[in-house]
Amino acid sequence: MVKVCSLTCESLENPLGLPTMHPRFSWIIKTGINSAFQQKYHIEVSEQDCVVWSSDVIESGQSVFVPYTGKPLQYATKYLWRVKVCVADMWSEWSEYAWFETALEKWNADFIEADDKPEESCVKTFRKKINISGELRSARIYATALGLYNICLNGNPISDTLFNPGWSAYNSRLLYQAYDVTDLFTKNSNVLTASVAPGWFKGDFGFINNRSYYGSKMAFSSQIELHYADGTYECISTDDSWQFSDSPIIYTEIYHGETYDARKENAETWKAVTVSPSTNYNIVPFDGVPVRRKESFKPIAYFTTPKGEHVLDFGQNIAGRVRFNVRGNSGDTVKLRHAEVLDREGNFYIENLRDAKCTDLYILKGAGIETYEPAFTFHGFRYVCVDEYPGELDPQDFTAIAIYSDMKNIGNFSCSDSLINQLHSNIQWGLKGNFLDIPTDCPQRDERLGWTGDVQVFINTASYLHEVQAFFRKWLRDLAKDQMPDGGVPFVIPDILNNLKPDSDNVILNEKHSSCGWGDAAVVVPWTLYIHYGDKRMLEEAYPSMRGWVEYIRSKAIDNLWNTGFHFGDWVALDAKDGSHFGATPNDLCATAYYAYSTELLAKTAEILGNSADADEYRLLHSKIVCAYQSEFFTSNGRLAARTQTGHILSLMFGLTPEKFMARTIDTLVELIEENGGHLVTGFLGTPYFLHVLSQNDRLKEAYALLQREEYPSWLYQIKKGATTIWEHLNGILEDGTMRDPGMNSFNHYAYGAIGDWLYQVVAGIVPLEPGFSRILISPKYGGTLTNVEAELNTPYGKITSAWKLHDSDFLLNVKVPPNTNAEICMPNGETYTVGSGEYSYRCKIT
Ligand code: BGC
Repeated sequence: MVKVCSLTCESLENPLGLPTMHPRFSWIIKTGINSAFQQKYHIEVSEQDCVVWSSDVIESGQSVFVPYTGKPLQYATKYLWRVKVCVADMWSEWSEYAWFETALEKWNADFIEADDKPEESCVKTFRKKINISGELRSARIYATALGLYNICLNGNPISDTLFNPGWSAYNSRLLYQAYDVTDLFTKNSNVLTASVAPGWFKGDFGFINNRSYYGSKMAFSSQIELHYADGTYECISTDDSWQFSDSPIIYTEIYHGETYDARKENAETWKAVTVSPSTNYNIVPFDGVPVRRKESFKPIAYFTTPKGEHVLDFGQNIAGRVRFNVRGNSGDTVKLRHAEVLDREGNFYIENLRDAKCTDLYILKGAGIETYEPAFTFHGFRYVCVDEYPGELDPQDFTAIAIYSDMKNIGNFSCSDSLINQLHSNIQWGLKGNFLDIPTDCPQRDERLGWTGDVQVFINTASYLHEVQAFFRKWLRDLAKDQMPDGGVPFVIPDILNNLKPDSDNVILNEKHSSCGWGDAAVVVPWTLYIHYGDKRMLEEAYPSMRGWVEYIRSKAIDNLWNTGFHFGDWVALDAKDGSHFGATPNDLCATAYYAYSTELLAKTAEILGNSADADEYRLLHSKIVCAYQSEFFTSNGRLAARTQTGHILSLMFGLTPEKFMARTIDTLVELIEENGGHLVTGFLGTPYFLHVLSQNDRLKEAYALLQREEYPSWLYQIKKGATTIWEHLNGILEDGTMRDPGMNSFNHYAYGAIGDWLYQVVAGIVPLEPGFSRILISPKYGGTLTNVEAELNTPYGKITSAWKLHDSDFLLNVKVPPNTNAEICMPNGETYTVGSGEYSYRCKIT
């Protein structure tokens, strides 16, 4: 039996408002046949029962990113598609139909504005009455805003997606969403309302109490396209026939929370809008992953702290908000504050939120049970302090809702050590807590920015956890738009720092772009995505930005050493001087190492894209950088100038260590672990690769020892301290239970979680040998106290599993290899097997 399933178009399931007119199709083959390879495929695309493209039978094994090659597609049109495949001379049935709908040809609607003042953090509601005169065949709403918007039709939300239109490089591309509302319109009169909030566009943002980065006036724009069954068509756009009113949301800011006065419901005074052209904006279809409410938590405890605060504990540190039910009199209030941790004494701890107020206030209308959840804000929290509440509180009336970009979870890992399982969960929550339309550094304090360095170190781990391709495709487009004319890459994407005035007290505001390890996101992120998903078109699109970054470094480097400019370097390393976040590894070493790494990846990219002139050029440049690095940082006897863990890790990981000095370099790294009492002191740049360089260089025992270490500082120390997410600092909470300096102490930062890829790649041993996992290496390495491990990864070809256990003196491995791929299985005793798809078991003796 051969079946085709999981059809995606541009990595998206049934996309509405597809941002390309040249889509590609992917599918997964299911079959019990071993070593199953697709021999042929046949795709059919149709529109309204008419086949518009039949690929015919194509002899090809390609099942991922197969391009549409029919006649040009129409804009704003829904197409159905299906595919069948031939495997082992057996044709499958046609798959179920999937669909995609193309986006608008161009944005035609104006903006409408209300009367909000620049300093106001209020919500305005826009309204339009729509009369539906006949039977609708299809109805679509296309919408965007300067600010954030939520749309209701006849009082009901038209979508479960949140934080639209998302955050992009607004001045270069503002995104719009498309909604299918065919079934939401009623015959005759309908009322459409759109609430618009300041959000990232106009709100208070960016850690220096600033606001209105992109503009000081909110606005809304929409095109409503109605197709009637009788063939007629009507388009309703935002214009002067719309009205606006104040909203019951009288205050909302992403950092500070929301105030909702339920007494103001249905008390609108409708006024005329002001129309302004939208032509200053490049309004294009949304190309990311919509944000949704994804998981919910009931309180695991409700208690009074020593200070007398009433606190709900939801058991998991998340990014999201609380929904609650309440009963009371008109004017009664519910006031909630949010925090990630309790202090040593067990009191509610909010100092690390800095200026973010993270407070929601609900004012009751006094009408039976009232249910409230904020609309335009999110908080990073596990604990909620209930400052005000009418009457007796029942914790069951409260639900914490985790909100993040709705990416598919593709990786799962579990093993015999429950602390490692918790570590994996914390790493995953680092992602869920920080992938809210853009990848943020943290979800709680007055920051929540798309720090490039954090992404750069975490991207490989993220790619093992969730389907992140579309999420980062959007972010990389914003990176390319916000890139400096000379190729420099802003510290944060979307970039809100470069327009700010320099400030001599704030190094970030003076420098603003292009630190090593941060700007390298421009190269490392597309490359890593290519390795995981095999999407050459994405690499092609990113190429100018990748090249721009390497050329930027080249223009700053002297004699092939990048020894100029400002760098965060091995940020928050424990070998930093007291009171500093800058690790001890010299900047020129870190920067030159990254210069080499990015140049090497660029050369490989050029090669893959068939640009041999660039490939040759960057290969040559790479070899010069390696030479310069070796003569600058290695003595003639092989001592590395920087006696730091990160210095040694980067030299080993990026292939910068002369062959003859490999043994000495790895020995010194092991010595440096011992000298530090058996623990790591690395920061953002060294930590992600620490275990990799140990395991790649025959020091598996030391790698497992570091991973399983429980004393401070270590990954598991945090877990022993009750962490449910990864902390910004290995010592966010000190051994005596006191907190680090609250100025920069997030309990939900994913950078130190970058070790997650080692669990998948080395412990479970799942590695892509060809981009997209069309060829797979399964080479698990047992060690430490682990006695069994189970991991699975849903790749573009289907699910890989690797599960091993130790039994007496045997190592037992079960693997599953998906159709249309093959795998190299490497057992710990060195035996190797090459297999096609299927389920296999192996056994060998352990030594
Ligand atoms: C952020 C980091 C970021 C760093 C760079 C911090 O405030 O939270 O994760 O990369 O600044 O300095």
